[in-house]
Amino acid sequence: MAKPQIVCVVGTRPDAIKSAPVILELQRFADRCDTVVVATGQHREMLQQVLDSFSIECNTNLDVMTQGQSLAQITTRTLEGLDKILSETTANMVVAQGDTTTTFTAGLASFYRHVPFAHVEAGLRTDTIWNPFPEEFNRRAVGLFAALHFAPTLLSAQNLILSGVPDDTIFVTGNTAIDAVVDMAERSDHEWYPKDPLRIVVLTTHRRENWGHPQQEIARACRRLVEAVPNIRLVCPMHRNPAVRETLSSELSHHDRIDLIEPPEYESFIKLIQRADLILTDSGGVQEEAPSFGKPILVLRETTERPEGVHSGVAKLVGHNADLIFEEAHGLLTDPIRYQAMARSHSPYGDGRAAQRIRYLILRHLGVESPAEAMWEH
Ligand code: UD1
Ligand code: UDP
Repeated sequence: MAKPQIVCVVGTRPDAIKSAPVILELQRFADRCDTVVVATGQHREMLQQVLDSFSIECNTNLDVMTQGQSLAQITTRTLEGLDKILSETTANMVVAQGDTTTTFTAGLASFYRHVPFAHVEAGLRTDTIWNPFPEEFNRRAVGLFAALHFAPTLLSAQNLILSGVPDDTIFVTGNTAIDAVVDMAERSDHEWYPKDPLRIVVLTTHRRENWGHPQQEIARACRRLVEAVPNIRLVCPMHRNPAVRETLSSELSHHDRIDLIEPPEYESFIKLIQRADLILTDSGGVQEEAPSFGKPILVLRETTERPEGVHSGVAKLVGHNADLIFEEAHGLLTDPIRYQAMARSHSPYGDGRAAQRIRYLILRHLGVESPAEAMWEH
């Protein structure tokens, strides 16, 4: 029997970070399956950084990114490109993770061609289709037709059941973000950030619903924080989106304890998180990673599809009101009891073995035996 062909699709930085453990795990079983890696190129430099960190080479890169691209442009270009690839290959399964437009079109292209789709990081939900935008739509849409739903947590599995997904297609695997972070934290030994006696506060913000005024409020709260707390340094790796950079540069430049930096590659970013005292973020991935290192997180969003961190007390939703962000961050940095209550190393998102479970389940679905090293819940 010919080996099945599995097409893994990535497009953005978080797609690549969370798909990398699955791709590397499938490649470990090259005697039983062929793994084809397709990049849509929705991101360019930020995607390549991650592929380089994990030494993953793409078979194809559609290279669709343009400056200031619209959602419709990403959707049409990636859908057409992926459809052409599927028409030229004999894919037995397509795999993609999360909720980006690349993931949505990878799913849609597979659906149109009747190729089974495996959704990694399935079942995350907020209660409004408009937030996060357009990610909530993207993940709900692929949930309609995926053949395999790999839910990172019990809560995400429950969300899928509540939305009518057949329960024999849902598997709780843990989030592959934790596999990636464990891998990086173990393999790198260099101290990235300058040894500085100051406490480090990391800020990342890029979400569409925060563009403009909300991001301005976030940045103003951070500047006020640096001015009010003399022993901190704010480090802000700026997403490459020009709209985001414009706001952050105009609000946060010209302060000797604010570092606006280019997005470091994944390994260095993880070192930065490990070195940090407090994280302010609207990122999905960073919400998952920071608890692994016991770092308190203030989530710069009105709602989150990752409530597990909030429930376990390591994260707090603060939205984008400047006064509230300032109060919460200031309180944590000046009240050790409040800080200690949040600074607990506890990851509600996985144990670092999600990719093994996913590899086992994908190959089993394709009728191929492989070792079940990791335990999982169904
Ligand atoms: C995308 C995802 C979002 C994810 C985020 C991770 C969608 C709709 N959005 O949002 O879910 O949280 O990635 O970062 O799928 N750019 C560069 N170089 C790069 C990457 C981006 O210059 O390597 C600039 C370009 O001008 C590009 C813009 O950033 O047009 C926005 O990129 P886009 O993928 O459309 O949106 P993100 O905000 O990155
Ligand atoms: N990240 C990185 N460099 C940075 C900022 C983030 O490597 O400068 C990593 C981070 O560790 C996480 C992922 O990028 O794994 C999150 O990506 P992003 O915040 O862009 O997207 P989201 O997770 O919100 O979709």
